[in-house]
Amino acid sequence: MTTPRWLRRTGTPRLEFGADYNPEQWPRAVWDEDMKAMKAAGVTIVSLGIFSWARLETSDGEFDFGWLDDAMDLLHANGILVDLATATASPPPWLTAAYPSILPVSPDGRVVSPGGRQHWRPTSPIFRAHALRLVRAMATRYGSHPALAAWHVSNELGCHNVYDFSDDAAAAFRVWLRARYSTLDALNAAWGTSFWSQRYGAWDEILPPRLAATHPNPTQQLDFKRFSSDALLSYLRDERALLRELTPAVPVTTNFMVMGETKGMDYASWAADVDFVANDHYVTPGPQAHDELSFSANLTGNLAGGRPWFLMEHSTSAVNWQPINVAKKPGELARDSLTHVAHGADAVCFFQWRQSAAGAEKYHSAMVPHAGPDSAVFRDVASLGDRLRSLRSVAGLSRTPSPVAILFDWTSWWAAELDSHPSSRLRYRQEALDWYSAFLDLGVRADVVPVGADLTGYAVVVAPMLHVVPSSLAERLSAYVSGGGHLITTYFSGIVDENDHVWLGGYPGALRPLLGIRIEEFAPLLDDEQVALDNGTAGTLWTDRIDVVDASTEVLVSYKTGEMAGRAAVTRRSVGPGSASYVSTRLGPDGLVPVLDSLLSRAGVVSELPAEVRGRVELAVRGPVRFYINRTDRPVELAGIAGAPAVLGPREVAVVAA
Ligand code: GLA
Repeated sequence: MTTPRWLRRTGTPRLEFGADYNPEQWPRAVWDEDMKAMKAAGVTIVSLGIFSWARLETSDGEFDFGWLDDAMDLLHANGILVDLATATASPPPWLTAAYPSILPVSPDGRVVSPGGRQHWRPTSPIFRAHALRLVRAMATRYGSHPALAAWHVSNELGCHNVYDFSDDAAAAFRVWLRARYSTLDALNAAWGTSFWSQRYGAWDEILPPRLAATHPNPTQQLDFKRFSSDALLSYLRDERALLRELTPAVPVTTNFMVMGETKGMDYASWAADVDFVANDHYVTPGPQAHDELSFSANLTGNLAGGRPWFLMEHSTSAVNWQPINVAKKPGELARDSLTHVAHGADAVCFFQWRQSAAGAEKYHSAMVPHAGPDSAVFRDVASLGDRLRSLRSVAGLSRTPSPVAILFDWTSWWAAELDSHPSSRLRYRQEALDWYSAFLDLGVRADVVPVGADLTGYAVVVAPMLHVVPSSLAERLSAYVSGGGHLITTYFSGIVDENDHVWLGGYPGALRPLLGIRIEEFAPLLDDEQVALDNGTAGTLWTDRIDVVDASTEVLVSYKTGEMAGRAAVTRRSVGPGSASYVSTRLGPDGLVPVLDSLLSRAGVVSELPAEVRGRVELAVRGPVRFYINRTDRPVELAGIAGAPAVLGPREVAVVAA
């Protein structure tokens, strides 16, 4: 476990502001313009060298640091800190030409070609040796450079290469499995290999879940996901260990991707391996765009244990990798940035400083767009720089815990969405996000926390689609409820143990006694089906045939139409002063609001916002500082909130210090 550290820097605390900086894409004269514009914008830090391997190690073992020396010195002369990449994110052509065996392999055996980026196997010893040689060279050369504030290991580990099915991966997978199971008997039992004649007689017979004739073994798939996340973590640890050895005073981080459907890396198990948590976030367009940003920032803050974290990348406007890349609307750039700050970010950085003229990201927005500094985007950037300067007293403040928590579990995310299930339509993160939106609609702050978090202090804990519930977790949740906590869970929760084996005797398996219900058969809905509930809402995606089996379990909402008409849809079991509730269908944010509202009031949880603004304003708290974020595109009157402006303009954020 790492003791948290922040950037190596001097001076009074402040919110850092900056971007990925790729000077090697530009003539030297442009660098001088960059310095002037960075100062005008209030830039304090840049990430340098992320994709520079080919320019730094020009052939095997031949280094050319001249241009990077120049860039480091120039930035230092201009008072700008450097979050220096180890530059290992994308191997150069000479390396892949000499060692094609470092290239990842797809499930159907196709070798990924160079030509994009991040085309390396996390388990390749040859890649690792070359990468670590570069790390050593970087650390030796720049470890005591006065601009150096932190090391940035690789970049977005696993963005494109988390799943590799190569022979290197197969060998490393076997080593990982031996450590997990010790014996083949234990592995055979865990993987349920009596099914479909899959029993293994030797470790070498085991493969990654490559293209199979039909559904590959689900536990093999789940273990491969665990292994793949761990393989990248082991790579991160190798770079970090070398950096620690050579430059012990310099903190080490890497940029996570807590955003949208990026799900390959279990960041709850990574967070202790960085000196401070850093995240990249890009907005997913749609009706929950802002909520998803807030959810991700919130989860990142809780991965960081509530302490400040570093927003390493987001965008000033459009990205280039969605099917349609929409520009941000006026006010969105600032609101997005400040929402991250509200959830604990002490640094606000973008991809990238200057919009590229060439390459695959030339249509991705930047702080300096193609139009140059005489542009609305740059003016917005500079005004954000001013705003962050005015908020410097926020720096260092931890997030203030919320009264309620939403549990987030990568294992359940992976397992619930495996193939060969009752419905292929289940979306774990969407269900969690829907609950988060419902909390925002009710004006109640919620923490999104890793499943292993300490639940003490939370009046209500929501465990959406908590599919994988080992007995230890069932016991923890049970103890939480017995201690007076209010647990709410949903369809497809509690169904399997850590090996993806079904808990027998009726669903929801491990949570059945706690919830006081029993389900004999799932009843998922077809795409065009929906069922009415007797509270006026409607469910989609899923229903359950619920039998109430405990005298303390009450039915809060029933199905009105469909095969389950007349049966329970939402239940609540009282357990002393605590309770355990179950929601058996997908209600979406609107349908969750009335259910959640009544469960919260029975748990004694009330909004901290005046009734008139609930739903339109998001509240986030860092110690004495409260952030009021306008979730809407219209003005909101804030009358009644001491210290706040009378009106919060569309997409505006008010920051009020007690
Ligand atoms: C990621 C990468 C960046 C860039 C951006 C574009 O975050 O780290 O290099 O590709 O995406 O959105």
